[in-house]
Amino acid sequence: MGQIDLMKKKLLIIGGASLIGSTIINEFKNDYDIHLTYNKTPVNSNFSQTKLNLLDERNQISSVISNLNPDVVVNTVAYPNVDFCETHHDEANLLHVSITDDLVSVCSDISSPLVYFSTDAVFDGTKSIKYTEDDITSPLSYYGKTKRDAEKIILNINENIVLRTTVVYDWHIRSRFTNWVLKNLKQGSKITAFTDQSNTATLAGDISHSLFCLLDQHHSGLFHCAGKTCLSRYDFAIKLADYFGYDKKLIIPTISKNTQSASRPENGCLDSSKLEELINFKLSNIDQGITSMINSSKTIPDIFL
Ligand SMILES: NC(=O)c1ccc[n+]([C@@H]2O[C@H](COP(=O)([O-])OP(=O)(O)OC[C@H]3O[C@@H](n4cnc5c(N)ncnc54)[C@H](OP(=O)(O)O)[C@@H]3O)[C@@H](O)[C@H]2O)c1
Repeated sequence: MGQIDLMKKKLLIIGGASLIGSTIINEFKNDYDIHLTYNKTPVNSNFSQTKLNLLDERNQISSVISNLNPDVVVNTVAYPNVDFCETHHDEANLLHVSITDDLVSVCSDISSPLVYFSTDAVFDGTKSIKYTEDDITSPLSYYGKTKRDAEKIILNINENIVLRTTVVYDWHIRSRFTNWVLKNLKQGSKITAFTDQSNTATLAGDISHSLFCLLDQHHSGLFHCAGKTCLSRYDFAIKLADYFGYDKKLIIPTISKNTQSASRPENGCLDSSKLEELINFKLSNIDQGITSMINSSKTIPDIFL
């Protein structure tokens, strides 16, 4: 075997400490030469990493990419707070749309596919069954609008990938919903959880595995990448209580009306059949996902509960 065959492909993850970014590191680390950027949170690893605030140092990302010349670029950077985006349009537009434009341009110059993560918030949630890639987008929130605008820019280049996902969770310090539920239930504190918004909650490890398969098999385009089970936050919290042995009576059902500054789709459930058939991989249902989380809790230290 010649030396060229032994060379690993270079992967740049922008936002290496994010929930999805760090899960991708785990999935890809044996097969790819991994490079990272971070803003406030350096990654505890030996991978080469560059500190870069995309808002303050916008011009630098293009030179980081062209100097590294990666085979693939994965951008996980975003404002996760949908309500913040509703009141901070300029910042949301800059981070989600303008910077995407910069990335698409530099990645296409070096013929490197760019991977982007989008959301069920591109839909208005009025459909009665799960959304497919063919459904018309009609975001209710500014967050959803910026993610939809970014998708369009990314998909102008045939080699790029957009994965739409929803309520991502795992045994991870940034798994916001599951950590909030488990922390409160463990302390015996009551929580309220919405019954009128449903999503296909998604195990982070399923996203990284799907991406690995897509790249390995040279696929590109738009894919839904979400868990199998369409359920409300209330039902998700009840499932967590069941599996972790906490008191379900601490979870109080409530409705979202007038409690959030940004509207969310009532139905945020995504159908991932296109992806599953293409890469021959089944995304987890909620029981399989929580079981997998529990299994990894035995190997990853309990740092947040
Ligand atoms: N999590 C979900 O439920 C969900 C659902 C649908 C779609 N998505 C999408 O999936 C992607 C990844 O989400 P995630 O939940 O894994 O992210 P996350 O854990 O919330 O992390 C956000 C990332 O953005 C980085 N970041 C924020 N502001 C930055 C700035 N000004 N400059 C540079 N980096 C900055 C953070 O870096 P530091 O930590 O270093 O500051 C961090 O790496 C996002 O595009 C998100 O919209 C997520």
